Amino acid sequence: MNVMTSPVANPLLKDKGLEIVLSDGQPHYFNYYWLRDNCPSSFSSATRERGFDIFHLDAAPVAASAEVAGDALELTWTGEDHVTRFPLAWLETYAAPGPRHDPADLPREAWYGDHYPQVPRFSQPELVADPAVRAKWIEALLVEGFAIVTDMPDSDAGLTETAELIGQVRPTFFGDYFDVKTHINPTNTAYTASALELHTDTPAEEHAPGVQFLHCRANTVDGGYSLYADGVAVANAFRERDPEGFRLLSEIAVPFFCEHDTYDMRSRQTVIELDQHGEVSGLTISQHMLDLLDLDQALLDDWYPAFCRFGKMLQEEKYMMTFLMKAGECMVFDNHRIVHGRAAYTAESGDRYLRGCYTDRAEMRSTYRALVSEGRFKA
Ligand SMILES: [Fe+2]
Repeated sequence: MNVMTSPVANPLLKDKGLEIVLSDGQPHYFNYYWLRDNCPSSFSSATRERGFDIFHLDAAPVAASAEVAGDALELTWTGEDHVTRFPLAWLETYAAPGPRHDPADLPREAWYGDHYPQVPRFSQPELVADPAVRAKWIEALLVEGFAIVTDMPDSDAGLTETAELIGQVRPTFFGDYFDVKTHINPTNTAYTASALELHTDTPAEEHAPGVQFLHCRANTVDGGYSLYADGVAVANAFRERDPEGFRLLSEIAVPFFCEHDTYDMRSRQTVIELDQHGEVSGLTISQHMLDLLDLDQALLDDWYPAFCRFGKMLQEEKYMMTFLMKAGECMVFDNHRIVHGRAAYTAESGDRYLRGCYTDRAEMRSTYRALVSEGRFKA
């Protein structure tokens, strides 16, 4: 007898759940609370949220009967005049534990210092006009962490419009936007003409913003080359070269600070950030905002040399992409993954003006999912 083609047997009712043989021929257990809470009638097609409130059941849900009718499982409940009907194909997708498929969970592709000619480029008016181009742009940001938007309008509104294609502009403690040009009384190294070492932005925030936009409005100075490196490429190589150093930098959270007259931001972050798969997803690094380390001094015997080995590796030519930003371009990059910096420039030699803002990684993934997948509730 072929098990796969025989009719699906009726489920076996147990105390706290039922067991049903699905198309793989194996019994699968489903808990009654889960079945009742996720009855298709629990969800509103208007709000696309669960309208059913399991807290208001008088007693624990228990199936009174369960049978396979056609391609569905039908349940009735004790103490409740309610029938639940699940398509078997739908049940199959939840038969094994684990997060459901996420179209935004894409494998990262590391890039190196020679990457500039291959950097994905997207024209701003096309991004505005075409959701398919927008999806390609966000995909590039998820996979490579860095893209250039060209043909930017020469206006503040142009930057806002571009950022809002991905998500809401995410303020930081210094406001919705920042202007990078030389300031008379700088509160930040970025606002001087000095070199700016490779860093991620606002490491002292508890949740530093995830996506950075740097809109180049003018760049006619001598010098001021932009430096970018892929933190994933460097940290993955560091993991191979120096496993113990990698362990220290990915497991031990260290303090970061940003302090001036009216603010005193503090956070603790690991220098190397891992995702839910244990893969490197980013870095938090900033020489000028690393706080005085408060770890056991003996631990620093190991941590500091590892930090310096990693920091030197970040500077290796192999990883460093160097180029001159042009007016009308906007660099868009994962602020946790891509380290960025700048060579010194001569302030009097011309104009250099960048305007920047942020949105968040989670919003970027959300926008991408909505662009590329059908979702569960779309009509
Ligand atoms: Fe920065």
